[in-house]
Amino acid sequence: MRNVVDVLKDKQKRRVAIFASGAGSNAEAIIKFSLEHPDSTFRVVLIISNLATAKVHQVAERFGINNITINDKEYTDSQEYIQVLLQELSNSNIDVIVLAGYLRKVPAELVEKYDGRILNIHPALLPKYGGKGMYGMHVHKAVIESGEDESGITIHIVNSEYDKGKHLKQVRVNVLPTDTPEVLASRILAVEHSEYPLVINEFCSYK
Ligand code: GRF
Repeated sequence: MRNVVDVLKDKQKRRVAIFASGAGSNAEAIIKFSLEHPDSTFRVVLIISNLATAKVHQVAERFGINNITINDKEYTDSQEYIQVLLQELSNSNIDVIVLAGYLRKVPAELVEKYDGRILNIHPALLPKYGGKGMYGMHVHKAVIESGEDESGITIHIVNSEYDKGKHLKQVRVNVLPTDTPEVLASRILAVEHSEYPLVINEFCSYK
C-alpha cells in the first residue's frame, strides 16, 4: 500500500501524455522508468494513438494507463478533431506531451498551447534524414544507402516545422558495414529506450 508521502510526491510530478502510432516500445520504456524511479519528475497519465489497433494500447493496458484513440481521418471537420485532442489533454491536466513514434503532424493549435512542452524522438542525427516522409525504416534505409558511418538519435522540442525544433540531446551510433536497415534500427531503438526517459525526466524537473 502506498503511503501518504508517495501520494504527495506523485501529485508534484509533471503529468505526461504520450502520443504513439505503433508498437509502443518507447512508451513502455518511459512508463517503466517513471514507475521504477520513485523520485522521477513525471508520470504518464494518458496515451493517445491515432490508431485503435496500435500495440501501444496493449502497453498502456498492462500498466493501467488511460489510453484513447483519436483518429484525424474520422473527422470531416479538422477543427472538431483539434478540439477533441485539446479537450482530452485538458481533462487529464497534461503538462508535457511526449511523441513516441507518432505518425501524425501535431496540429498548430496544440503546438501553440503546449509551446515548448512537446518532445519528440527521431532515429537519426537531425538535421540529416529528417522531414516529411522520413520515419521508421525509411530513415535507416536512407542512412545506409548514403554510406554514412554514423547515425543515432535526436531528442528535440516540437515546433511548427517537422523535425526542426531545438535539440535537447543527440547520441551517436556507429553504422557498421554489415548493417541492414533492420539491424541498425534495432541498435538505435535500444539507445532510444535508455535515453528518452532520462531526457524527459530532466526536462520535467524544470519548473
Ligand atoms: C522509434 O524509432 C522512434 O524514434 C520513431 O518511431 C519509432 C517508434 O517505435 N519516432 P516504438 O513504437 O516506440 O516501438
